Amino acid sequence: ELYTSSILHGKKPLITTNPNKLEEQARAALPLRSYNYVAGGAGERATMDANRQAFRRWALVPRMLRDTSAKKVGVELFGVKYDSPILMAPVGVQTIFHKDREVGLAKACADIGVPYIMSTAASSTIEEVAEASGSGHRWFQLYWPSTDAITRSLLTRATTSGFSVLVVTLDTWSLAWRPADLDEGYIPFMEGVGNAVGFSDPVFRAGFAAAMDGATPEEKIGHASAGWVREVCPGRSRTWEDLKMLRGWWGGKIVLKGIQHVDDARLAVEAGMDGIVVSNHGGRQVDGAIGSLEVLPEIAAAVGDKITVLFDSGIRTGVDVIKALSLGAEAVLVGRPAVYGFAVGGAEGAKQVLRGLLADFEMSLGLAGIDGVEGCKPEILRRVEGGG
Ligand code: FNR
Repeated sequence: ELYTSSILHGKKPLITTNPNKLEEQARAALPLRSYNYVAGGAGERATMDANRQAFRRWALVPRMLRDTSAKKVGVELFGVKYDSPILMAPVGVQTIFHKDREVGLAKACADIGVPYIMSTAASSTIEEVAEASGSGHRWFQLYWPSTDAITRSLLTRATTSGFSVLVVTLDTWSLAWRPADLDEGYIPFMEGVGNAVGFSDPVFRAGFAAAMDGATPEEKIGHASAGWVREVCPGRSRTWEDLKMLRGWWGGKIVLKGIQHVDDARLAVEAGMDGIVVSNHGGRQVDGAIGSLEVLPEIAAAVGDKITVLFDSGIRTGVDVIKALSLGAEAVLVGRPAVYGFAVGGAEGAKQVLRGLLADFEMSLGLAGIDGVEGCKPEILRRVEGGG
């Protein structure tokens, strides 16, 4: 639809279809600090670069004269069929990108069949997002609070609100060295906009109620924001042992996000987890860490037959999706591109970017003679050293 309305009917799309121009378009649409927050990475952004370079080190070798018209592009994860192999990555504080915040983006994703992963750092509540996403697939991402009663409360709310899979992010127990935000003195959570999940939680609220006596509304927001950041970014990592607690508190599937080492992938299997996301948080945490796609093949080879392997960090085109699926991911998460679309055009903008990515994926499969998701195997790629 998008393609034909442009090529055949001369109708220019709202959002650029060029992945390299998308960031520029978002920059023009956003306040500087919001732009810096989404576009930025840790340190000198070496890992952000490495994420992209890793894709260039693999090349497709297209095949011709094959009928791929019946190709399937949906995937099955944990026994559930999804029309899209792309999931919306958990992204916090969406109110800084568009006034419609998470409720707008969650509904947009539901409208186009893209599963929505809600962040613990959301600026909408769990219940609001559930209502907006309606019958759409939704997963819940956990930044693991230090107070167990709060964790249990969040997980109960997420279960009651129809979130089917829990994604536990391991790599952000402290925010990293992010110069673009540090230089501006900007962390959105501290302004109270990223704390809807916490502020709306009865257990969290009860914990700081006493400290609020006599405080002005601004002081209350300040106290509560600082309290919430301390809860979910406590400055100290959890351990493998702690995962047992989560099993008791969450009845559904659990996916660990932020796995980069093959031994950690094996430990996830030993810990009885259902899945992992091979991810370096889009280069926002450990700068100088290896490009995420680089480690995918060895991890998929080690654990792909035991747990579900998902992937993110650096996906920008349909062929990127093909490469990640071919190297062992069962589905991929996309962060920044969808946020850029949301920033430029609200829900319509996000839909356009995600549908564009799906269309590019489907079209590229066909043109390269690949028979759908099933045809995405390592054999269709060649390692091209010196790419990048
Ligand atoms: C993120 N990411 C993230 N991850 C998470 O588990 N919880 C969160 O709240 C956030 N918040 C967040 C905010 C912003 C602005 C960005 C860009 C990213 C990381 C995200 O889920 C995902 O791992 C990366 O975005 C993937 O990389 P790409 O697709 O952005 O290259």
